[in-house]
Amino acid sequence: MADEKVLIGIIGGSGLYHVDNLTFVKSVNPETPWGHPSSPITIAALPSGTQIAFLTRHGVGHSINPSSVPSRANLAALKSLGVRAIIAFSAVGSLREEISPGSFVIPTQIIDRTKGIRPASFFEGTSIVAHAMFGDPFSNKLVKWLEGRVQKALDAEGRGVKLFTDKTIVCMEGPQFSTRAESIMYRQWGGDLINMSVLPEAKLAREAELSYALIATATDYDSWRPQSDAVTAAEVFKTLKANADTSRLVAATVLDDLQAALTNDEASIFLEEVGGMKFSIMP
Ligand code: ADE
Repeated sequence: MADEKVLIGIIGGSGLYHVDNLTFVKSVNPETPWGHPSSPITIAALPSGTQIAFLTRHGVGHSINPSSVPSRANLAALKSLGVRAIIAFSAVGSLREEISPGSFVIPTQIIDRTKGIRPASFFEGTSIVAHAMFGDPFSNKLVKWLEGRVQKALDAEGRGVKLFTDKTIVCMEGPQFSTRAESIMYRQWGGDLINMSVLPEAKLAREAELSYALIATATDYDSWRPQSDAVTAAEVFKTLKANADTSRLVAATVLDDLQAALTNDEASIFLEEVGGMKFSIMP
C-alpha cells in the first residue's frame, strides 16, 4: 500500500483543518509555476492504507482571505501529487428557508459574482486561448456518486443533518457579506446558497481535468430574511464547529469507497473530465 498513488484530494474550508481516522504520513509543499499552495499538503492514510492529500484552503491559522486564495497553486500542487478527484468543503450561507444552518448541500450549478480580480485560468498571461466547457461546473458523475454516500453517512451519524442536492451556489467577492438587496436578488436569480470560495477553484479543476465536487455546509441564513438580523461573522462561527465535525465524519466514511472506485472498473465513471480540454484550444 505504501506506494499506492494519492488519487483523492480534500480541500478543507473554514473550520475544517483535518479529517478523522487518518494516520499522518508526511507533509509536502510543492512549488508550482503559480507558487506554493495555501498551506503545506498533508498526506495521510486511512485505516485501509488509502492515502489522501489534504489541503487547507485558507492556510494555516485561516490567514488567507477568499479573494487571495492561491487557487492555481492549490490545484496544480494537488495534481502534481497524482490527485484525480477532489472533494472540496466550504461553509456557505443559505438563500432558502428550508436549507437551515447545519444543513449539508451538494450543489450542481454556480453563479459567478466574483469581480474578476482572482486569476481564474491557468492560461492567463500566456498566448494560449482556451475555452473550457463549464455548463456543468461540477463533475456530474462524482456528484451523483457522492449524493447517496453522503446521505448514508449523515443518516448513520443520527443527528438529523439534512442533505440537499441539485442546488445553485452563488460565489461572491468578499470579504464583506452581501447587502440585503443583493441577497434578495440572488434568490430571484435562482441562487440557493452563497459562498466566497467555490470559484475559481471549480474552473481551475476543470482546466486541470480533475473531477471536482463541493460539499457545502450551511452556517447561516444570508441577509434576505426581512425579520432577521443581517448575517455576521459571529453567526457563521457558531455553526462552523458542528459542521466541521460532521464533515470529518462524512469524509472518513466515503474516502475508502472513492479510492476503490477510482482504482477499479468504476474509474471511468469519474474521470469524465480527463481529456476534456482536448478541444478547448482554438486551432
Ligand atoms: N460563507 C458563509 N456564509 C456566507 C454568507 N452568508 N455569504 C457569503 N459567504 C459565506
